[in-house]
Amino acid sequence: VDLDAFITGLPKAELHLHIEGSLEPELMFALAGRNGLSLPYADVEAVRAAYAFSNLQDFLDIYYAGAAVLLTRQDFHDLAMAYFDRAVADGVVHAEIMFDPQTHTARGVPFAFVIEGLLSAMAEAQERHGITSALIMSFLRHLSEEEAFATLAEAESWLDRIAAVGLDSSEVGHPPEKFARVFAAAAAKGLKRVAHAGEEGPPAYVHAALDVLHVDRIDHGNRALEDADLVERLVGEGMTLTVCPLSNLKLCVVDTLDHHPIDRMLALGLHATVNSDDPAYFGGYVADNYRAIARARGLSRADLAQLARNSLTGSFLPADAVAAHL
Ligand code: HPA
Ligand code: ZN
Repeated sequence: VDLDAFITGLPKAELHLHIEGSLEPELMFALAGRNGLSLPYADVEAVRAAYAFSNLQDFLDIYYAGAAVLLTRQDFHDLAMAYFDRAVADGVVHAEIMFDPQTHTARGVPFAFVIEGLLSAMAEAQERHGITSALIMSFLRHLSEEEAFATLAEAESWLDRIAAVGLDSSEVGHPPEKFARVFAAAAAKGLKRVAHAGEEGPPAYVHAALDVLHVDRIDHGNRALEDADLVERLVGEGMTLTVCPLSNLKLCVVDTLDHHPIDRMLALGLHATVNSDDPAYFGGYVADNYRAIARARGLSRADLAQLARNSLTGSFLPADAVAAHL
């Protein structure tokens, strides 16, 4: 089989996907129309043309503005269904999707609309395609810990349907320590923990995600490579890194995919995975990320299979479900 078919055919989990980042411009226009909102863009091409970023914050400004078209349960349902349909076509058998409730509750959208729309799509996707999924509720790190606590309280009646809490948005200047108490509270409620660390932030933020937030996975983690002791620790702990190659390129974490460290991560023994992060904004879904990195770094089929296996073993699926996919 050719490489495209080989990649698509690998059973894989997607572990780093912001559902708001899967909002394609076509759906953005459809939802704006349905909700009687106007967009500051003439058409879909103008939206895509605006997607040129020089850093994380550039992207975040546009991404939060785009999410403003999401108002109803049906909007969140449609958003997630579009993602699941696309992910299934890429060979995704399990997806752990992040959502940012504060992006929506700050606009007056009830927390219940967000989570009920996502949960109904998750159930429908499983019924229709057999794909399983889990929710990761992410706190926006540019907001306060008090606001994160308020979000955790709003989630109280849905905690049995939330797998983990996460930490995203502007990294530099908002270190993990800021969220130590709310992550401890989430852990006490039985939630797993993930955090973006080492995307733009220094290796110290990765150390703090481990030591202070007690995370089960590191989202991104690229800058851990600057610290040999940290690499040794991540390898020793078998810590999963959810790496996002096309995101790294679009947000200038790497200057070209030819310099992407994914193969170095594997060679060091790091438990790296490949994910799409915000596929509608970064130019590709998960299989596009596998393809792009395979081409740029000359990955072997064994490397690609290893990355896909890592995604399943690094997921929050129970061991028997992981074994059934391997
Ligand atoms: N980093 C931080 N916050 C985010 C990202 C990211 O890559 N994508 C969506 N929110
Ligand atoms: Zn992310």
